[in-house]
Amino acid sequence: MKLALFNAKRYDIESFNQANVSAAHELIFIEQPLQLKTARLASDAIAICIFVNDVVDSPLLEQLFKQGVRLICLRCAGYNNVDIAAAQALGIHVVHVPAYSPYAVAEHTLGLMLALNRHIPEANSRVHNGNFTINGLKGFDMHGKTAGIIGTGRIGALVACSLQALGMRVLAVDPIQNSACCNQSIEYVDMDTLLSLSDVISLHCPYTAENCHLINAEAISKMKKGVMIINTSRGGLLDTQAAIDGLRSGQIGYLGLDVYEREQNLFFQDLSDKEIDDADFKMLLSFPNVLITPHQAFFTAEAINNIASATLFSLSCFEKNEPLSNAILK
Ligand code: NAI
Repeated sequence: MKLALFNAKRYDIESFNQANVSAAHELIFIEQPLQLKTARLASDAIAICIFVNDVVDSPLLEQLFKQGVRLICLRCAGYNNVDIAAAQALGIHVVHVPAYSPYAVAEHTLGLMLALNRHIPEANSRVHNGNFTINGLKGFDMHGKTAGIIGTGRIGALVACSLQALGMRVLAVDPIQNSACCNQSIEYVDMDTLLSLSDVISLHCPYTAENCHLINAEAISKMKKGVMIINTSRGGLLDTQAAIDGLRSGQIGYLGLDVYEREQNLFFQDLSDKEIDDADFKMLLSFPNVLITPHQAFFTAEAINNIASATLFSLSCFEKNEPLSNAILK
């Protein structure tokens, strides 16, 4: 079956071609993101494949439906960028890859925490410049501190257990308690308790209308002074302006981001020879205690191979009219 992959990067082409050796689908790789003006590049494909920043709203869904698209495959876990209800109303199926490697994201989250705490990017750049001094590189022991995990699903639970293994007390907020966390004596508390007691707060819940700016000025004001906030989930969970104010006042001591609320205009592109047209993002970059990676937490060899094989499995099921185990339903 023909699958048109939008926003296709070199690593997508490699992993999908490799996974397709046995599946033998017809893959069309399109460099451009999916938008109203690029939708036609899918030509007569019934199935398309998109990534985290391809925003699929109602008008775009209608265009896709008109040209015959009946399956949208998200090669990611989060699906906040697709109007699922509108897709369902049109009879377009939407599938995602819910658990291609929670380890990849959890490990990157730990990487951000440790790198921020121990000033590893700054230390590395000093050493590269022949400066072997350690003034200003003082960190803190994670052992004995308190971590707050917001969202203890697949990724959050791994982060919680890893931090506990480092000797941290781990608090968690989630309307659904995860037995893996309960078995490890991770303490479920209410949001205010988590905010007020945690030295490190890590976000692992999905971006939904209810979770928009979950961490806003009010939430930040309830946190410990000098708190570390890590967001590897979705940019919109954190109010950027409130984070900037918190960094300015010292309320936020460290900020680690793999996602940013207006990342669509920046991430996954080489803009090194262009002016960054986003004042808030430039402001974030100006703080020495902010570490930003370009939505790469998912990006491990295992994860991208799993994404490709799970996506092609969904495509094969769709072709054979078999149930879609990774379908997203509203
Ligand atoms: P999951 O669905 O297994 O777990 C999410 C958990 O968040 C659920 O237990 C849910 O009950 C909880 N939750 C929802 N709203 C909440 C709230 N307001 N407060 C507390 N808990 C809440 O999802 P998974 O696989 O752990 O992924 C988490 C998020 O990570 C995804 O939604 C996605 O946005 C992000 N992600 C980021 C990646 C990256 O490369 N940076 C890659 C993969 C996922």
